[in-house]
Amino acid sequence: MSANSSSPNGLGERLNLSLSRWKAKAGEMLDPMKELVERTACLVIGISEEIEMRQQDCDELATKLAWVMEQVLQKLAPESGGDRASEATAHIVLEALTTRASDIDTFLQSRSSKVQQLMSTKRAETIAKFVKDLDEMRLKFVEVRITNVSQQVAGLHSPSIPAKHPEIPSKPTVFFGRDELVATIVQLLLRDQACRIPLLGTGGIGKTSVAVTAINDDEVCAKYGRDILFCSCESTPSAEGIIQALAEALGLQYDSDARSSLFRYLRSRACFLLILDNLETAVYSEDGERVHQLLAEFAQLPGLSLIITMRGDLPPVGVEWEEFDTLRTLSLSSAHRIWSQIARKKDKKLDELLGRLDGLPLAIRLMAHQGKYFTPTQLLVSYEKSAAKLMKNPVRSSFSP
Ligand SMILES: Nc1ncnc2c1ncn2[C@@H]1O[C@H](COP(=O)(O)OP(=O)(O)O)[C@@H](O)[C@H]1O
Ligand SMILES: [Mg+2]
Repeated sequence: MSANSSSPNGLGERLNLSLSRWKAKAGEMLDPMKELVERTACLVIGISEEIEMRQQDCDELATKLAWVMEQVLQKLAPESGGDRASEATAHIVLEALTTRASDIDTFLQSRSSKVQQLMSTKRAETIAKFVKDLDEMRLKFVEVRITNVSQQVAGLHSPSIPAKHPEIPSKPTVFFGRDELVATIVQLLLRDQACRIPLLGTGGIGKTSVAVTAINDDEVCAKYGRDILFCSCESTPSAEGIIQALAEALGLQYDSDARSSLFRYLRSRACFLLILDNLETAVYSEDGERVHQLLAEFAQLPGLSLIITMRGDLPPVGVEWEEFDTLRTLSLSSAHRIWSQIARKKDKKLDELLGRLDGLPLAIRLMAHQGKYFTPTQLLVSYEKSAAKLMKNPVRSSFSP
């Protein structure tokens, strides 16, 4: 039995319970009296339930109105950084919202009696129409958000880990479908001799998440202790930049020669684990050749295990890398598990929706966040619209290795 049914929340439910108790005790009472009480109680229960139901639709209306307004405020915020598509949508929605909000206001001001207002069928229909209009506005924002997902997936995604990170990032809380890969990496990291692991694949496929999960493994932490350094190289697109970022993260003192200090320090460690995340920008930069040389020098250090994550399917030359395939997409069942952890709404279109995301973790995660507010059916419709628009106006990627 659910907690709800043992302690009813609604007025109608509570009255129903009281009525049953009353009937149980009223066994001996005169029949006409009993009948009148029962009939009136049923009428009152009916009214209470009806009013409660109608109040719920008002709540829904208020929540959706507020949600749409929030989105408009966010997208039109002076400091929002100007995503043109979002702004254009916000303007369109604002126009529709202005009209609707005024209609709703007039509707709420109309002076019929409270009971009349609450009970009329016309009222229910009007509210349902308002809710439907607001849903359409909400879906416009989802469409924009999903377009943004596609843009991010197309290569504009920038993870939020700062360039210099003296502590290792903590492992992701929602993470499925990579057990085997993580176990392989952990095994290599626990081996006596150092290893060099390239984690390759498209943006959003989960390279950083895999690396972070592996380095948070208990045995790996026990082996390397404080000698693990995770560095995001996204905003350090040169060999010198990487060297300085590492030296600073390690708190090394150096006057002019960060390189010597860094290598001296690394040579002094019996075993050290270095993770260079998002290395593609540096590898494909003008300074690419020196970045290759730097990696080759790291690979000469006998105690240094190296993990790199980068987009593309070929690791930088000059290092003897472990054999690793590019990261594969996630299975449908992993996508389901991610969805169940994040989103609440499920319906018969969920498989189809997840199928459209091609097993790309970033897309699944972002969609699952939308799934907190919208059903898979609503999201699928919206996704298809976005996809059709993208086909017409393909997004150009800023980086295509
Ligand atoms: N196996 C997974 N299960 C759940 N979420 C994942 C998984 N892999 C990645 N993600 C999520 O997908 C997004 C992109 O992952 P990330 O590791 O940053 O990709 P990449 O480094 O390849 O660009 C992140 O939000 C991450 O939390
Ligand atoms: Mg990454």
